[in-house]
Amino acid sequence: MQQTFKLRKFKPDDLQSVMQINRLCLPENYTDYFFMDLYQRFPETFLVAEENGKIIGYIMCRIEVGLSNLGLGGLIRKGHVVSIAVLPEGRRKGVAQALMTAAMEGMRYYKAKQCYLEVRVTNVAGISLYKKLGFEISRIIEGYYSDGENAYLMTKKL
Ligand SMILES: CC(C)(COP(=O)(O)OP(=O)(O)OC[C@H]1O[C@@H](n2cnc3c(N)ncnc32)[C@H](O)[C@@H]1OP(=O)(O)O)[C@@H](O)C(=O)NCCC(=O)NCCS
Repeated sequence: MQQTFKLRKFKPDDLQSVMQINRLCLPENYTDYFFMDLYQRFPETFLVAEENGKIIGYIMCRIEVGLSNLGLGGLIRKGHVVSIAVLPEGRRKGVAQALMTAAMEGMRYYKAKQCYLEVRVTNVAGISLYKKLGFEISRIIEGYYSDGENAYLMTKKL
């Protein structure tokens, strides 16, 4: 199938569109300061997908330092997917897969050795997406979300 979207780095003008997609698609919402802070610190891993000039999805990540749970040695850099969403009308066209793949490239640019994320245990779409990309469930985080739902911590070596 012909790809109808393109990826590019987030820019400050995109803030309202990205916040709107975030509010529409996820219960975890953030302040404009939070989005801009991650953009300023990690611009290589804050990406948007555009179709016909309209933003239809985004991914926003953070680079952290911590212990590897994949046996990669002591303290390492890890890429943490903070938020990813695609508008309902843009789904199942490979947008999220492309965003994840490009963000993981950005994480490698920051010398991250592994990538991790949290996903609701009931989020079939998310879990399938991450498994397709080679992520594995490392553990369950009980009551991770504010409504009490558990999360899977999913991890992949970069
Ligand atoms: C999860 C989400 C980001 C996926 O976006 P998307 O652009 O539709 O995903 P893709 O088209 O790249 O899908 C890639 C693969 O993921 C899996 N997948 C995606 N959506 C799926 C679904 N609804 N059911 C089952 N598997 C799904 C499939 O394996 C798919 O490959 P395929 O289409 O060849 O079968 C999107 O559904 C979304 O925004 N959901 C709401 C927000 C959210 O849950 N974010 C993640 C929080 S951790």
